[in-house]
Amino acid sequence: MQPAGMASLFRPRHNTLARISLLVLAVGGGGGVGGLLFYVRSPLARGMQDPIEQPIQFDHRHHTRDEGIDCRFCHNTVDSSPHAGIPATQLCLNCHSQIWNQSPLLEPVRRSFFEGKPLTWKKVNDVPDFVYFNHSIHVAKGVGCVTCHGRVDKMAAVEKMQPMTMSWCLSCHRNPEPNLRPVEEVTNMDWKPEGDPIEAGRVLAQRNDIHTRTSCSTCHR
Ligand code: HEC
Ligand code: HEC
Ligand code: HEC
Ligand code: HEC
Ligand code: HEC
Repeated sequence: MQPAGMASLFRPRHNTLARISLLVLAVGGGGGVGGLLFYVRSPLARGMQDPIEQPIQFDHRHHTRDEGIDCRFCHNTVDSSPHAGIPATQLCLNCHSQIWNQSPLLEPVRRSFFEGKPLTWKKVNDVPDFVYFNHSIHVAKGVGCVTCHGRVDKMAAVEKMQPMTMSWCLSCHRNPEPNLRPVEEVTNMDWKPEGDPIEAGRVLAQRNDIHTRTSCSTCHR
């Protein structure tokens, strides 16, 4: 690790926790931290495939597969901002004031609307605040939702499908080509490359000007 490279990380915007852990890694680098990292990376500790209790049993199967609604209908900032966005109560009611409007399962939605209080969904995927993640760049460069989130369209309740560790991010950033698809296919859960997948990836990387991105400041700004 180069001290010169580290310097750019220590800008005022950076939060203290990141500073401390970077320092520990850079200066100490000993068994203690290594042990911690090992622990942190086991699927169990990463909270992967844990069912998470939500205020409403929202089932993606009914809302994507059965109805054929595009992901971006609800996650409508995913291609324009860092955050994918979770739909507001009003959007649910665009349909549910008409259909299933007596369903007891939808009682919390109606209550949220009449009381003017947003639903509080629990986060399933979460990276720490000292990491910069941005959905729009991945969507614009043709990385599919399914690559990072799995078959959400087959999930009764969304689970975290990837560890979302630094090494997970880096393993793709070192060699993004096999994970690319045409931009118009990003929300298609069934998409498969035609022909030689390696060649297809190479062509897409060239067309969309995609390079390896492994410098620390890519994700720690
Ligand atoms: C009708 C609206 C709707 C559609 C369409 C929809 N979603 Fe969702 N999505 C939600 C809601 C509401 C939540 C929050 C509740 C939950 O986590 O299940 C959510 C949660 C998620 C989460 C977990 C968020 C977190 O906290 O990490 C992911 C990932 C996700 N959706 C991906 C998708 C993908 C991929 C598609 C398309 C295949 C899709 N969604 C289509 C409404 C929708
Ligand atoms: C584009 C229309 C549409 C939107 C928007 C929509 N839904 Fe639905 N929802 C449906 C349809 C259609 C069904 C019935 C699916 C089935 O049974 O196959 C359904 C079913 C449900 C059910 C199951 C109801 C029961 O009694 O079994 C729940 C709960 C639900 N939706 C919650 C939500 C929530 C929460 C939102 C907002 C985040 C939302 N829906 C947005 C169309 C929509
Ligand atoms: C390169 C991996 C990657 C791709 C591709 C990706 N996501 Fe995510 N997604 C993440 C990560 C990482 C988080 C957690 C972000 C955080 O904590 O700030 C997340 C969080 C979410 C959330 C929770 C709300 C939010 O904005 O944090 C939703 C909803 C979501 N993703 C939907 C989608 C949809 C829909 C697509 C496809 C259009 C998609 N994602 C593509 C990695 C990805
Ligand atoms: C499956 C592949 C994949 C995964 C996983 C992935 N990325 Fe990316 N990421 C990409 C691609 C492709 C680009 C576009 C690179 C380019 O344009 O040269 C990108 C670009 C970025 C950029 C913008 C870089 C720049 O300089 O403009 C950031 C920030 C980023 N990723 C953060 C993350 C973080 C943080 C994670 C893990 C939580 C992550 N990515 C996981 C494929 C991935
Ligand atoms: C492609 C994105 C990406 C790049 C590039 C990247 N990191 Fe990270 N980094 C992450 C993510 C995501 C986490 C949070 C991991 C977690 O939650 O376990 C993280 C966490 C860390 C941590 C906290 C300890 C840990 O592993 O959780 C340190 C220290 C760190 N990064 C240093 C660096 C340094 C130094 C570089 C450059 C050599 C770098 N990172 C490059 C994404 C990245």
